[in-house]
Amino acid sequence: MNSGLKSAQVSEPLSLCVVGAGYVGLTAAACLAQLGHFVYCLEADSEKVSLLSQGEIPIYEPGLKELVEANLANQRLKFTCDPSQAIENATVGLLCVGTPPRFDGDPDLSQLSQAGRTLVQSSDHDLILVVKSTVPPGSCEALELIFQDTAEDRIRVNVCSNPEFLRESHAVWDFFNPDRIVLGVDEPSLVALDRLYPSDWPIIKTDRRSAELVKYASNAFLAIKISFANELADLCSKVGANAEVVLAGVGADQRIGSQFLKPGPGYGGSCLPKDISGFIAVGEAVNLDLQVASAARKVNTQRSEDIAQRIETVLGGLSNKKIALLGLSFKGGTDDTRYSPAIGLAEVLVEAGAEVVAYDPLANIFGKPIPFFRVESPYVAVEDADGLVIATDWEEFGKLDYQYIAKLMRGYDVFDLVSKTDPIKLGEAGLNLYGLGKGFSIESHSLLWTSLLWAM
Ligand SMILES: NC(=O)c1ccc[n+]([C@@H]2O[C@H](COP(=O)([O-])OP(=O)(O)OC[C@H]3O[C@@H](n4cnc5c(N)ncnc54)[C@H](O)[C@@H]3O)[C@@H](O)[C@H]2O)c1
Repeated sequence: MNSGLKSAQVSEPLSLCVVGAGYVGLTAAACLAQLGHFVYCLEADSEKVSLLSQGEIPIYEPGLKELVEANLANQRLKFTCDPSQAIENATVGLLCVGTPPRFDGDPDLSQLSQAGRTLVQSSDHDLILVVKSTVPPGSCEALELIFQDTAEDRIRVNVCSNPEFLRESHAVWDFFNPDRIVLGVDEPSLVALDRLYPSDWPIIKTDRRSAELVKYASNAFLAIKISFANELADLCSKVGANAEVVLAGVGADQRIGSQFLKPGPGYGGSCLPKDISGFIAVGEAVNLDLQVASAARKVNTQRSEDIAQRIETVLGGLSNKKIALLGLSFKGGTDDTRYSPAIGLAEVLVEAGAEVVAYDPLANIFGKPIPFFRVESPYVAVEDADGLVIATDWEEFGKLDYQYIAKLMRGYDVFDLVSKTDPIKLGEAGLNLYGLGKGFSIESHSLLWTSLLWAM
């Protein structure tokens, strides 16, 4: 962490109320306190509040515990379940609660409307409520009507948009090193918002609908990039090209960029699957078929089935096969397993008759039932396994002792879906490496023959 950036300060601190102590709210609360603001974080879960009040962090996020501890100590950060206490001195409330997907792809905004209403009912002064949660365009305007209706004529409520762009596992870094901060404000007189962030940070000020759409469009684009990379990797393995090299070559073009251009088991997490569906639903609501986004979602939805089929082909069936699975969180560096492709793949493998034994260093499955075993060591997971699947890009998976793993496994096949292993080391250990975009299925002969004919 660059401590110089962590020492950034606002010139006129505000008293703030942050609602929700999840990945977004807790990061925002701690980082805003670090900027100099006085922050009350309102969280509905009393267990979380008592943990946090003692400086314990219920999620894994590098650098966050230190910030929470420091700002608890200097009294700029407090946690509570009591909305009256949280809003007593605050004129600005940041809403950071969940917006989970509904069955039709639209997000469920009920947590947001409830959180905002509670603040309005508990406040005796005018409020500016800032929506940091991800919402479709028009939501801030609709929420403002609901909140003003709740407030009647007692107080005035303005709702603004300030979508959050943090990446889990880099959340604190991202807060202090933003590519952009988007503020959607329809009323220029809301000067308090100009005091939220240091004035020299890259701020894009716009209307509320545009701000809301920046977030949706950004996540839709990232999802499209990932699906494109995965489709290209499949093409590479069919024509005998190396996807890693092809994608690196494509990404070296600055107009395209290399991030999110890696083959993998598909996108997951609490944001991309939900937000691309939300984006498509926005189009549907205005009779616009967002075909590129729809295609990217389709590629991703099929991904687990496609990969399971390839594993089945290599292993000669899945029934009664024991598969070791390394990785359960939706990406390396986080404990978050929401919509994790690793878990999606495990479920497909189990459905097809395989026994799956999984290991992950941190994954939090939130007490959900899982149809497979979870063990505490990668070496226990691989015992007597017919195949090994690496599905989350944890750094430690590249550093395992594959000579030892080869001795523990019954079979020899390693399916590295996240390009973490060294092909030479695996070869030396006598293991067969199957990566995405190289070697799952090489069907290049017919293609070469056709090219040759054309060339003659
Ligand atoms: N997680 C990410 O990486 C990320 C990144 C950018 C944007 N977002 C968006 O930010 C929003 C929040 O995401 P998250 O991952 O932090 O969610 P989360 O589920 O981890 O956290 C939400 C928290 O809000 C609390 N809460 C719900 N209703 C409440 C209420 N009325 N009063 C007090 N507390 C309440 C919950 O108990 C929970 O602790 C979502 O819209 C998400 O799409 C998430």
